[in-house]
Amino acid sequence: MDDNGTLIWILICGFAFIVHITNADLSYSVLEETRPGSIVGNIAKDLGLEVTKLSTRKARIDTEENNQRYCDIDLKTGNFVISQRIDREELCGEKMSCLLRFELVLESPLELHRILLHVQDVNDNSPSFPKHAVKLEIRESAGKGARYRVDEAHDDDIGQYSVRQYALEKNGHFILSVREDSDGSKHVELVLDKELDREKEHDINFVLTAADGGNPQRSGSVNIIVTVLDANDNAPVFDQALYKAVIPEDSAIDTVVVTVSATDADDGVNGEVTYDFSRISDKAKKVFSLDSKSGEIKVIGALDFESNSKFELRVNAKDGYGLSSDSKVMIDITDVNDNVPVIYMKSLSNPVPENVSPGTEVGVVNMQDRDSENNRQVRCSIQQNVPFKLVPSIKNYYSLVTTGQLDREVVSDYNITITATDEGSPPLSSSKSVQLSVADINDNPPVFEEQSYSAYVSENNKPGSTLCSVTARDPDWRQNGTVIYSVLAGEVNGAPVSSYVSVNGDTGVIHAVRSFDYEQLRSFKVHVTARDNGSPPLSSNVTVSVFISDVNDNCPQILYPAPEGSSFMTELVPKAANGGSVVSKVIAVDADSGQNAWLSYHIVKSTDPGLFTIGLHNGEIRTQRDISESDSMKQNLIVSVKDNGQPSLSATCSMYLLISDNLAEVPELKDISYEEKDSKLTSYLIIALVCVSTFFLTFIIIILGVRFCRRRKPRLLFDGAVAIPGAYLPPNYADVDGTGTLRSAYNYDAYLTTGSRTSDFKFVTSYNDNTLPADQTLRKSPTDFADVFGDRDGSPEMTVA
Ligand SMILES: *[C@@H]1O[C@H](CO)[C@@H](O)[C@H](O)[C@H]1NC(C)=O
Ligand SMILES: *[C@@H]1O[C@H](CO)[C@@H](O)[C@H](O)[C@H]1NC(C)=O
Ligand SMILES: *[C@@H]1O[C@H](CO)[C@@H](O)[C@H](O)[C@H]1NC(C)=O
Repeated sequence: MDDNGTLIWILICGFAFIVHITNADLSYSVLEETRPGSIVGNIAKDLGLEVTKLSTRKARIDTEENNQRYCDIDLKTGNFVISQRIDREELCGEKMSCLLRFELVLESPLELHRILLHVQDVNDNSPSFPKHAVKLEIRESAGKGARYRVDEAHDDDIGQYSVRQYALEKNGHFILSVREDSDGSKHVELVLDKELDREKEHDINFVLTAADGGNPQRSGSVNIIVTVLDANDNAPVFDQALYKAVIPEDSAIDTVVVTVSATDADDGVNGEVTYDFSRISDKAKKVFSLDSKSGEIKVIGALDFESNSKFELRVNAKDGYGLSSDSKVMIDITDVNDNVPVIYMKSLSNPVPENVSPGTEVGVVNMQDRDSENNRQVRCSIQQNVPFKLVPSIKNYYSLVTTGQLDREVVSDYNITITATDEGSPPLSSSKSVQLSVADINDNPPVFEEQSYSAYVSENNKPGSTLCSVTARDPDWRQNGTVIYSVLAGEVNGAPVSSYVSVNGDTGVIHAVRSFDYEQLRSFKVHVTARDNGSPPLSSNVTVSVFISDVNDNCPQILYPAPEGSSFMTELVPKAANGGSVVSKVIAVDADSGQNAWLSYHIVKSTDPGLFTIGLHNGEIRTQRDISESDSMKQNLIVSVKDNGQPSLSATCSMYLLISDNLAEVPELKDISYEEKDSKLTSYLIIALVCVSTFFLTFIIIILGVRFCRRRKPRLLFDGAVAIPGAYLPPNYADVDGTGTLRSAYNYDAYLTTGSRTSDFKFVTSYNDNTLPADQTLRKSPTDFADVFGDRDGSPEMTVA
């Protein structure tokens, strides 16, 4: 018996040794009923792991099959500690080797170590007999050597702690015989040593004691009561020494497992056999019943392959006199696919940052199915439309890994449904939903809703007025998506941009800081930055173009003729001028632009209203009809120049025209301006003077006429003799849009094209920039111009438009 125990020890040690060589598994042994909190061993040391890494790698103990957690790991020390009472008898029953399997799970990377815990028996159970008393009825005729079976005692402990010896209380008739069967069971028999005599003894009582091999020893006893009878009898005999039955675990209540049968050669009461369980475990008692008459063993409770797959019962057949025999019944339970696979989420990093690279492990899943063989083969899957998959890891562990890039801005939460299906038939499956959130990373810069923005504002705006508003969106979460606007530093016209515009940091509304002047600045650009509040922040820029629109805030400015008083100019109009000839031109500019600078010219007052007209838009003064002798020589026009703004602004000027062919005819120029104030006397004096002069001049003209008359007409020289000196141009004139407004850079050639006569160019350019007061202009003699025009006979009038 002791040899047996040693052998087991050698086996266990050998196994432990093999296990250590594989270097993946650990093996410990512990006595049952060890106090919770006791240390079994140090896992960290035995596996060569750093104790500090246990926590970070989420070390934990998983039990494979039992829901009970008998042992655990102390993460601080790496100790393997008992956490719950272990009862070997409850766990393993009669099995010689009682093993608890654990798994040590470590994450990142997933690592699995098997831990085997051998639970050693402790002598904590006493032998016991199935019944308190054994009643035997024996005929007095029974001969010496007759054997009477007694049910053996049973001890839940195993090995040396099981029943080892029997002792029979001294009595006058029986001795004890114990035989061991090939299957390890014992036959305990009482052997008649001295014949009975009913006349002397009616009843014989004595005690049978069974003891185990523990130290201290434990024992149990049974009373044996022998009644001495008068007649002879036969014991019942089972038709099989061993009954075997196999039933599926889902067998219904009342299913007959097996029917035992024993026959008794006796008739009547002596042949009536009744059946009884002579030994049955508590577990078996709950699921099987034995009909004492028919010998049918039936199912009376729910069977479960997973908790008990084998039952061994002993049945007893007894006749009316109490003579009995027994037989063994072995019932095997077969597995039925009755356990759905169970999915355990062993760990989950939740939330997962959205920037994890594809293939990152975010969780560990464990599949368990309590069934066996094919019924416990589990396949698992995940629904299609999520960027996750299950990768088989170790044994029934799977890693949940990402298959693509996550983007919180697109999907922020996942419902991952894991489905596990076993391979039984029909297969069973279960599923589990896992909620996984994606954590934000500041990966989106704010984006402006438009590529660029334009703001339109009229000049002379109020400081502080709103120009426009910009909006940028950032889909990130919270502060990573909070947008703040600012104006990028820069310069506009040499001044910091901040002195022009400001932006509201929260709303993106852009305000003017100052009043703008279109004539100074027509447009400018500012760069606005939208920045989020993440760390580090992301930003983007946008250009805001501010266009200032014109307001009619400048009057037309007349360049020619010069304003009254500053200098004095007059125009000569040849007497022979035909209707429609250009005699002069009013030139004006307007600092505004567009309609506000589109000038129109009107004669508001004239000496002879029918004589001159002015081009509405070009300011050319033309004769309306041929000049006649009766026309007054001095003509005065008041011209008004208006722009087209709303409301329009205007300026006026006076234009003096002298109808004369001859410089000599020109009276004192100053007189013209005072014409209206002339007294009658002065008129006469002038008339007299003119008469004399006329006579003198006529004489000269005749002389000159002889010389020039055939060549050209002198009036030509003065037609539109518009000599505009550069000094009259105001500074910084804006663009011309064909409206008669001038650019400062224009030379005379260009701006006279708005006039009518090409011949003017040469005339003007030859006089260039000098200011030419009227008297000087007039003093130029036709001879002086002759070289300029050259000798061109036969084309005297050609230049008139
Ligand atoms: C995820 O599943 C839970 C429960 O199964 C449900 O309440 C929730 O609405 C689901 N969420 C999504 C986004 O489908
Ligand atoms: C913002 O993004 C950073 C990383 O860029 C992250 O650490 C932080 O948690 C995010 N904040 C929020 C509120 O999600
Ligand atoms: C915005 O403009 C500033 C200045 O030009 C520059 O430093 C910054 O990089 C720009 N940011 C982006 C997102 O283009």
